[in-house]
Amino acid sequence: MDTKSHIYDVLIIGSGAAGMTAALKLPKEYSIAMLCKDKATEGSTYYAQGGVAAVLDEYDSIESHIQDTLDAGAGLCNPEVVRFTVERSAEVVDWLVDLGVQFDKETQPDGSEDYHLTKEGGHSHRRVIHAADATGKEITQGLSQRLLQHKNVEIFERFVAVDLITEDQIGQPGKACIGAYVLNLDTQHVELFRAKHVVIATGGASKVYLYTSNPDTASGDGIAMAWRAGCRVANMEFNQFHPTCLYHPDAKSFLVSEALRGEGAYLLLPDGTRFMPRFDERAELAPRDIVAKAIDHEMKRLGCDCVYLDISHKPREFIIGHFPNIFKRCLELGMDITRAPIPIVPAAHYTCGGVVTDTSGLTDIPNLYVVGESSFTGLHGANRMASNSLLECMVFATSAAAHIQQQDLVTVDWKIPNWDESQVTNSDEDVIISHNWDELRRFMWDYVGIVRTNKRLQRARRRVQLLIQEVGEYYSNYKISSDLIELRNLMTVADLIIQSAIRRKESRGLHYTLDYTRLNKQPVDTVLVPPRFG
Ligand code: FAD
Ligand code: SIN
Repeated sequence: MDTKSHIYDVLIIGSGAAGMTAALKLPKEYSIAMLCKDKATEGSTYYAQGGVAAVLDEYDSIESHIQDTLDAGAGLCNPEVVRFTVERSAEVVDWLVDLGVQFDKETQPDGSEDYHLTKEGGHSHRRVIHAADATGKEITQGLSQRLLQHKNVEIFERFVAVDLITEDQIGQPGKACIGAYVLNLDTQHVELFRAKHVVIATGGASKVYLYTSNPDTASGDGIAMAWRAGCRVANMEFNQFHPTCLYHPDAKSFLVSEALRGEGAYLLLPDGTRFMPRFDERAELAPRDIVAKAIDHEMKRLGCDCVYLDISHKPREFIIGHFPNIFKRCLELGMDITRAPIPIVPAAHYTCGGVVTDTSGLTDIPNLYVVGESSFTGLHGANRMASNSLLECMVFATSAAAHIQQQDLVTVDWKIPNWDESQVTNSDEDVIISHNWDELRRFMWDYVGIVRTNKRLQRARRRVQLLIQEVGEYYSNYKISSDLIELRNLMTVADLIIQSAIRRKESRGLHYTLDYTRLNKQPVDTVLVPPRFG
């Protein structure tokens, strides 16, 4: 059977802040396909709470935002990339406001209205613009509403990209990316999307861990696809654990925003005592790596299942006004945050590493761009500062769109092979997928989590190699499904995280190992080179 085929100028894989921004910033004359695994609005962007970091206050400065980002990044940020991003922060916010995104305002002492800026860990100024505690939802609505006016963008919901196609892979001269094979979840058939430029905007990989704040889409697909196609990947050992995710049997992946701490919430032990001042002079507002590690330490020391975040000393109206979403969700679960502390635990939240790109989002493969959480731009170093991610998504998607416009739209008419399903059958053993899925996420949590050791990493390495072999055989013999695609990608990403963690013989930022607790003098990125590179 011939594989159904589509042709576009640009293929964007992913519809979060990064993917939608790229689509909106490209000229309306370009035909664009935008793919997403689920509904177009589903992804980490939709769930973002705290906001977007930007230099907007007259007492704040670009230099201060840069310095805070560099400090949080523990010596590994690329200073030029940090400057590139921060200098564009106000522009990004203006663009969102022009799209109709409504950020919270407050009345100033002189009676005028201005944006309410909140604070989060690592920021020395109030510089996080937000829409209460549901900033991602507001931004997603703004971007998706505007996309309705861009008739050149066709959105394919429930289409899962399986693998990229490059010229050399199909035996042609050149190495450029020319499209992707994509599984249509409704027909269960693989279709071919040809494009002159491909933009990966598939988000992070935190689903590789058992406990995560991320939605189900975050399985590292873009990172794994780019790696298989021949792109370098960097700093994968720096997976960020958010200190405060709700601890409740009925609350899957619910984040309790760092903005609560920005507005004065305390972290408490089960006996009600504060502990963060013992770990860092910035106490609850230290960068995330420090706070998550302190919580992990105290939980292990006391053998408790969670610690507590308390904002109940603030006025009830203030709490409900600033955090309506968190208030409502906790109340549904029987907890009134205006009266009692909130049980919390750290959970995997953000992938600081990713596919190596330049400031245009361009990768090692011609015509292939990666933007948003899947990318490694050099902005975050060893630990991302809060609310710098949405900023990065929009800054780099904008520069990728600009770079694409400077290129020729050369028509590629290589004959691309059909997706071959003739050798595979329907699986009668789906338990292999579910079992390996659980096993992988559990050992990643136990052995490659907040605190690591050589022994734990080696154990994880042996297990992931076995699973890769098993899942590889399964992949070759059975028809693909979205679960199998994700599992295959999660295995790849887990392997990249473990390999990177093994290589780093120091403790820096989010990578903390009991075998090398000191910081090396020379900060170096961990860059992994794939077999197909070059
Ligand atoms: P996402 O928004 O995750 O979108 C990924 C897209 O890719 C989805 O459309 C998905 O369907 C699609 N996709 C994935 N794989 C495939 C595939 N194989 N085929 C087709 N489509 C695919 N950052 C901040 O800066 N400020 C915050 O306040 C903040 N709060 C957060 C709160 C939560 C709960 C979470 C989880 C994250 C938060 N972050 C925050 C981080 C930030 O939201 C994310 O880093 C950012 O939204 C990532 O955007 P993205 O466009 O790269 O990916
Ligand atoms: C939060 O609101 O705590 C999340 C902010 C972020 O991840 O940047």
